[in-house]
Amino acid sequence: TVGDLDFAVADLSLAEFGRKEIRLAEHEMPGLMALRREYSEVYPLRGARVSGSLHMTVQTAVLIETLVSLGAEVRWCSCNIFSTQDHAAAATVVGPHGTPEEPKGVPVFAWKGETLPEYWWATEQMLTWPGGEGPNMILDDGGDATLLVHKGTEYEKAGVVPSAEADDPDEWKVILETLRASLAADSSRWTRLGEGVKGVTEETTTGVLRLTQMAAAGELLFPAINVNDSVTKSKFDNRYGIRHSLIDGINRGTDVLIGGKVAVVAGYGDVGKGAAESLRGQGARVIVTEIDPICGLQAAMDGYQVRTLDDVVGEADMVITTTGNKDVVTVEHMAKMKHQAILGNIGHFDNELDMAGLARYPGIHRINIKPQVDEWVFPDGHSIIVLSEGRLLNLGNATGHPSFVMSNSFSNQVIAQIELFTKNEEYDKEVYRLPKKLDEKVARIHLDALGGELTKLSKDQAEYIDVDVDGPYKSDHYRY
Ligand code: NAI
Repeated sequence: TVGDLDFAVADLSLAEFGRKEIRLAEHEMPGLMALRREYSEVYPLRGARVSGSLHMTVQTAVLIETLVSLGAEVRWCSCNIFSTQDHAAAATVVGPHGTPEEPKGVPVFAWKGETLPEYWWATEQMLTWPGGEGPNMILDDGGDATLLVHKGTEYEKAGVVPSAEADDPDEWKVILETLRASLAADSSRWTRLGEGVKGVTEETTTGVLRLTQMAAAGELLFPAINVNDSVTKSKFDNRYGIRHSLIDGINRGTDVLIGGKVAVVAGYGDVGKGAAESLRGQGARVIVTEIDPICGLQAAMDGYQVRTLDDVVGEADMVITTTGNKDVVTVEHMAKMKHQAILGNIGHFDNELDMAGLARYPGIHRINIKPQVDEWVFPDGHSIIVLSEGRLLNLGNATGHPSFVMSNSFSNQVIAQIELFTKNEEYDKEVYRLPKKLDEKVARIHLDALGGELTKLSKDQAEYIDVDVDGPYKSDHYRY
C-alpha cells in the first residue's frame, strides 16, 4: 500500500515504459477513445465500483482508464497466471498523473508468473474493496471472479466447504482452500458481496458457457451480458486477433520455421478459423480436427484436411488446441508426437491438454528452456516442446491480441458495463447480448479509423430489403 492505494505488481519502475506503450495503444483503440469523448461530460459509470478479472495487458490498461474516465472506481487482476505485462500493470497503478513514488492510478493485483495460490489471492484482493464494501459491477474473462462469488455464496449457505477429491485438478484444490479460509473468517462475506453486484459483463466463450449453465440451473446471482457474442467481439477478436497472436506466441516461444510444417489445429470455431489461417499464412500444411460437421465442412471448404487427432498426431510438427473443451490432447497423444514437436493451447483453460497426465508419465523429464517454454523428454529419448504449460500461449508466450482488435472487444465491454449499471432494473438474472445497433456502432467507428467508406442505403433500397436506413441491417439470426 502507498497512501490509500493497495496493489501488488512486479515493479513500479516499469511504469514509464508501460505509459509509453499505453500512449501508442490509445491511438490504435479508436472505439475506446470515442467512448471517452462521447461520455466526457456525462460520467455514466459514476458510482460504479468495477472489479475486473482480465489479462493485465497494455490494451487492458486502456480499457481500465476508459472505465475510470467514465466515472468508475476500478480494481483489477489478471485472469491467467502468465498473461500480465508487468509494465502495463505498473503504469496502471501509477496512473497517467502519478509517479512510482506517488502512484495515483488503480489498484492492480497481477504479475507475470503467478503461482495458483497467488492467482486466487489476487482475485480475492481484486474483489475486496477498502472500507468493507464490495464491487457493484464485475467485468470477467473466463468467469473466475464470478465463480468465486457463486461458489463462496453456495458454501456459505451450506455452512461448509466440501473437501477436494484426490483427483481434482490442483486449481480446484486451491479454490476450495481459499473459500475454506474465507468461511472461517466471515461466514457471509461472499453472500453479501454477491447481493451487492448489479451485474457481470463476460468477455469470452468459456466464461459465457459457465454463465449460461448457471442461468439454466437458476443459480445466477445477478444479470450478465455476454460480450463475447457481440459480432464485433467474437468474429473479430477470436478470429483476427488469434490470426495475429497465435504465430506471435509460437515465434517468440520457439522461433521454429512454420512454413512447410504439418500443423494440426483442434477446433474450427472462431478461434480455430483464425489459428488455421495464421498457420497457413506462414506456409504450414494445416490439418483441422472437429466434432461438429458444420465446422468440419467449413474447414474442408476452406481447403484444410479434416482428420482425427488419433490419426495424425504422429505426423504433426505442431498441435494447437482451440476448442474450449477438456482432454482434447491426452498424454497418449503427446507420447506419439514427433521429436521436438510443439504443443500449445490457445483456448481459455489449460485442461484442453492433459498436463497433469504428462507430469505423471513414468520416466518423463522436464527441461525448462526459458519462461513459458518447456521441453518434456520421454523415457525413449524423444521430446515435445510445450508452450505456457498448456495455458493460452498467445498471452503466455507473446502479448496477446493487438490493440486495434481489442478496441472492438473492449468497446463492447464498456457499453455493456454502462448498460447494466445504468439500466439495471431492466435486466433479470439471465444472460443477455447487446443490441445489434450497438454492435454496428462499434464496427462503424473502427471501419472509419481504417479509412473504409460505407455505401449509404437509399430509402427505397432500405424499404426493399426491409431495414431502416440507419440500421440495424441484419436480423438477429444472421450469422456473418
Ligand atoms: P467456438 O465454440 O466457436 O469453437 C470451438 C470449436 O471447437 C467448436 O467448433 C467445437 O465444435 C470444437 N470442438 C469441441 N470439442 C472438440 C474436440 N474434442 N475436438 C475438436 N474440436 C472440438 O469457440 P471459440 O470462440 O473459437 O473459443 C474457443 C476457446 O478459445 C474458448 O475457450 C475461448 O474462451 C478461447 N478464446 C481464447 C482467446 C485467446 O486470446 N487465447 C480469444 C478468444 C477466445
